[in-house]
Amino acid sequence: MQQPLTLGIAGLGTVGAGLLHLLEHHKHRLEERVGRSLRVAGVSARVKTKERGVKLGGIPWFDDPVKLASDPGIAVFVELIGGSDGVAKVAVEAALRAGKHVVTANKALLAEHGVALARLAEEHGVALNFEAAVAGGIPVIKTLRESLSANEVHRVYGILNGTCNYILTTMADEHRSFDEVLKEAQKRGYAEADPTFDIGGFDTAHKLAILTSLAFGIKLAFDQIHVEGIQSITEADIEAAEDMGYRIKLLGVAMQAESGIEARVNPAMVPKHSAIAEVSGVTNAVAIDADYCGSLLLIGPGAGAQATASAVASDILDIARGGVIPPFLTHTRNLKPYKKVKLGAHQGAYYVRLSVYDRPGAMAAIAKRMGDREISIESIVQRRPRSALPGIGARLKPGAPAPVVMITHETTEEAIRQAIDAIEQDGKVSERPQVIRIEKLYEDERQ
Ligand SMILES: NC(=O)c1ccc[n+]([C@@H]2O[C@H](COP(=O)([O-])OP(=O)(O)OC[C@H]3O[C@@H](n4cnc5c(N)ncnc54)[C@H](OP(=O)(O)O)[C@@H]3O)[C@@H](O)[C@H]2O)c1
Repeated sequence: MQQPLTLGIAGLGTVGAGLLHLLEHHKHRLEERVGRSLRVAGVSARVKTKERGVKLGGIPWFDDPVKLASDPGIAVFVELIGGSDGVAKVAVEAALRAGKHVVTANKALLAEHGVALARLAEEHGVALNFEAAVAGGIPVIKTLRESLSANEVHRVYGILNGTCNYILTTMADEHRSFDEVLKEAQKRGYAEADPTFDIGGFDTAHKLAILTSLAFGIKLAFDQIHVEGIQSITEADIEAAEDMGYRIKLLGVAMQAESGIEARVNPAMVPKHSAIAEVSGVTNAVAIDADYCGSLLLIGPGAGAQATASAVASDILDIARGGVIPPFLTHTRNLKPYKKVKLGAHQGAYYVRLSVYDRPGAMAAIAKRMGDREISIESIVQRRPRSALPGIGARLKPGAPAPVVMITHETTEEAIRQAIDAIEQDGKVSERPQVIRIEKLYEDERQ
């Protein structure tokens, strides 16, 4: 047997405790698989006395994770603290500089500083592994970095935030409002007390930044991603989507366009019977369209102690076997600069919901504004929310705004935005129209 692989684990919260449990539970299985023992040679967290449901007896305790990171007794530093800056960053940098391999689940840190950290890892000839940083238990990093490394990837997209997917799925299944479902998600522990990071799309954008770099061999550029959250999605949108054969999902999408990369996080309509539409609750999904492999979809738990620990442990096993591959698939000097495509050039179909004043000529004026930009309409429906049904009392009062939903044929983002601005300026609608992109899926294209 080779020398034991010594681990320093910083952060003993959900993931850290989950990892310690896994390493204990599967100790013999793991040692057999990699031909050496894995020994936890140091741990660090804030509160030493906290009950964590795992055995810590005999493991050296470090109050300071940075000290643990460079301790001569460890070969691998496992960062499970979180946060893009602060102690997690300082500790990871210290570990890499000290020639330690690093395993982290920290998407925020990678999205913001991934290239610099990868460079440090290369300079010191050590691994920087982060399977758990995107979509928890789903092995998407290895899929892009290893399994698909011989392909040219055209697009990567997915449901990367369980909180948002839980909210949207519950709104659709139980016909409930966004606010009500968000409150319930907070009670169940699926959403933070301050949910902005999740529902605003920023968590998805962190993960998308990492996937975009791996998929297209470019430098990470979190700040270049167009981000829209799910706060504006109403019951009326969910119901209209259902009736028109769609589901609304918060997607992170990165695709190779002619002039660069289009990377965006936005609520999107996907056909109701597509596989990704059926991904419900806190489950995550990542789809990859690649030239030789075709299209694949990975579905699974995007968070949680066990699933995330499984991903972290797989990174540790790779190191135990002796593998060091470039963190972002290729050497950092080969990563291309991020070239952002203007979102106005995006081509696709759109869902538009308008609240139209019941006045003569209103619809004709709206149709003209669409026609002026050569936008053709696939379907148009005047509808009222199910909550207003049933019965005669639900009839719209004369002159009250009537909800109108339309699906356009393929057009450009620029054209639809201009048409919507013009419609609003004409004063024919009582509020800013809702516009949602309809995501074209590989499975549609094959039909
Ligand atoms: N939770 C998931 O399902 C999941 C999924 C994928 C990725 N991740 C990522 O995994 C990482 C950890 O997440 P988590 O959910 O396990 O977080 P968590 O439960 O909040 O745990 C964080 C841990 O870090 C420790 N810590 C905080 N500040 C520290 C400091 N200054 N010095 C030493 N230790 C410190 C805390 O110590 P105390 O316990 O003493 O307070 C705690 O043990 C994050 O980057 C997260 O994004 C999490």
